[in-house]
Amino acid sequence: PLVPMTEFLPQAKRERFAVGQFNINNLEFTQAITEAGQEEQSPLIFGVSEGAMRYIGLDYVIAIARTAADNSGLPIALHLDHGSSFDVVMKCIRAGFSSVMFDGSHYPLKENIRLTKEVVKAAHAVGVSVEGELGTIGGVEDDVSVDESEAALAKPEEAIRFYEETNVDALAIAVGTAHGMYRGEPKIRFDIIEEVSRQVDVPIVLHGGSGVPDESIQKAISLGVGKVNVNTESQVACTKTVRKLLNEDDTLVDPRKYLGPARDAIKEVVKHKMRLFGSSGKA
Ligand code: G3H
Ligand code: ZN
Repeated sequence: PLVPMTEFLPQAKRERFAVGQFNINNLEFTQAITEAGQEEQSPLIFGVSEGAMRYIGLDYVIAIARTAADNSGLPIALHLDHGSSFDVVMKCIRAGFSSVMFDGSHYPLKENIRLTKEVVKAAHAVGVSVEGELGTIGGVEDDVSVDESEAALAKPEEAIRFYEETNVDALAIAVGTAHGMYRGEPKIRFDIIEEVSRQVDVPIVLHGGSGVPDESIQKAISLGVGKVNVNTESQVACTKTVRKLLNEDDTLVDPRKYLGPARDAIKEVVKHKMRLFGSSGKA
């Protein structure tokens, strides 16, 4: 069934593992992620960006996610990714999302706190979990685009104050990762993760999980990251497979013949991440 993230995040924080947020781009992604979760017996989070929502359609998102979750036997959160306004958050909650992120990171701290508090109040009243963000994460993901020079790391004192005042269920902080694939290796500020995590009760969220070396992910989790977001790596696996199959055979026209293998490739990426995050067997 669809559940709020509070169903599994407290355990993740306690036992030092992370639950993956895997973004759904279409039906095949949703199926691949769900199958991976079933094979790994892992809790999971479907991430839906505003761009994905426009592409799939809100009604279809709900129908697909609900069907996947209900048939899976797994705790699955349907989570709005980088929600940009109170209105879009409300629209998603009314439609059936079990979790939302409000990304007020581009506002001044005071305003981010004020807006996030409003979202938390409304969401918690109906049992929906909330993720907030502090500091700006570089790179591009759908509607969210931040120039590397403008990406700003979260300040620990501000992150702690943000948590205490908003009471979010998961805290995304900018610690050096970026959305999309990296040109070089990301320089992750593990000291910021450690300092903030020690002083807040909820897990830290690591955005831009694609292309981060496995050892860095594991270190981040050991220091208090309890949710890791992955999108681009699944997209790469999908598109590489489609490109290869179409290049190999000019006569191939049945979409099932390339989307089926693409779905399998996404599933493999997600299974690998679940094992890496330590969420396998935690459902
Ligand atoms: O919000 C979604 C993520 O932060 C995904 O980032 O595409 O770099 O994996 P990624
Ligand atoms: Zn993100």
